Amino acid sequence: MIPNLIIRGETLAFRADPFALEPGAGSSASIVHDTDGAVAISNGRIAAVGAARDIIAAHPAVPVEHWRNHIIMAGFVDAHAHYPQTEIIASYGAQLIEWLNKYTFPAELKFADPAYARAAAETYLDECLRNGTTSASVYATVHACAADVLFEAAAARNIAIASGKVMMDRNAPAGLTDTAQSSYDDSKRLLAKWHMKGRATYVVTPRFAPTSTPEQLDAAGTLWREHPGALMQTHISENLKEIAWVKSLFPNARDYLDVYEQAGLVGPGANFGHAIHLTPREIARLRETGSGISHCPTSNLFIGSGLFDMQGLRDTKDRPIVTGLATDIGGGSSVSMFATMRAAYEIAQLRGYSLHPAKAYYLATMGSAALLRMSRDIGNLEAGKVADIAVIDPRSTPLIAQRVRRANDISDVLFAQMILADDRAIAATYIAGKRLHTRSGAHPVA
Ligand code: GUN
Ligand code: ZN
Repeated sequence: MIPNLIIRGETLAFRADPFALEPGAGSSASIVHDTDGAVAISNGRIAAVGAARDIIAAHPAVPVEHWRNHIIMAGFVDAHAHYPQTEIIASYGAQLIEWLNKYTFPAELKFADPAYARAAAETYLDECLRNGTTSASVYATVHACAADVLFEAAAARNIAIASGKVMMDRNAPAGLTDTAQSSYDDSKRLLAKWHMKGRATYVVTPRFAPTSTPEQLDAAGTLWREHPGALMQTHISENLKEIAWVKSLFPNARDYLDVYEQAGLVGPGANFGHAIHLTPREIARLRETGSGISHCPTSNLFIGSGLFDMQGLRDTKDRPIVTGLATDIGGGSSVSMFATMRAAYEIAQLRGYSLHPAKAYYLATMGSAALLRMSRDIGNLEAGKVADIAVIDPRSTPLIAQRVRRANDISDVLFAQMILADDRAIAATYIAGKRLHTRSGAHPVA
């Protein structure tokens, strides 16, 4: 098939999982970096990745967008975010339960209005594109319309979004609760309408144990069992008071995860957000069941929740847990995956472990894609995958340019970005081979 576009620049791809390399191989060995590479795109998918001269010689008539001195990589994948909370980012002075009651629930109440929700969904998706994020697993609100408008806005942009209506039938304001039955019915209807339609994936989304009755969790488990190709997302063990509350609400459960296990909400395709204060039994069960977790580092710092154990849960030879990287907007303090990787690095440092940049970028792309069971289509610059691409300007500010001059390999360039860069480093974002965002002042060279 003849490509319709060639993107030329410093291509960056993973040839291996940096967490799974043989002992002795540096993490950098997982990365392929071609200082003059190119990506041929055909029908929205990557047809070939190779040396620019080879790709261009093979297709001399195809237009080339040349991003000289820019890194061309797979777009970022945010494994856990709440689009209705975009507006309450940076809300002062509260930890989880108080933060939910004081800021989150009042904001989410407004999403009963579809026009309000639609505007928020568009703002959120455009902000993702400005930050090089090309896919995300997103919580809507309890309102079915809030899920509908996000799927519609994502479809209009051809963005692969995973999302679902939040299920919550207690411990929340009246305007934010459904019932076990209505949440099942609404979710089932939305699933039938959106799951696998275009690039959409439906996610069965019980918010977290404290806002669901056992009956509602059972309903969520039933729906997921009926549609095993869908995903499931919820929160677990984020905050110590939350965990104590779960214990009091579910006295018969062995621990927090057991609440979900009893409802049939564990297994491949399950995406547990935070997973900070886990017991050894919970960790063993996450491993045994093939469940996944989302690391939400800026949120864990910002709401003061705790320090995720990347080394113990993911960087281990003993059955690593499928792990994605996530902003958790608006508990998280940035939409940028650079800021998210920086926070992941800093949290690891506080635990005496250094998160190598190859591992951080892997988590932010392939890791999250695997968690969302989308690895066939997204997460890497590789022939066959959809051409969801971020173009990174590695010298986006004078300070970063100065730092990059000292870098002697691509891993160090990537490290400088994850510690220092923000949305200004995203020169362009492509969705399925179409450029949907171009930073002001950025353009491919003629
Ligand atoms: N636990 C339950 N709901 C939420 C939420 O919206 N954000 C975070 N960070 N934790 C939660
Ligand atoms: Zn969350």
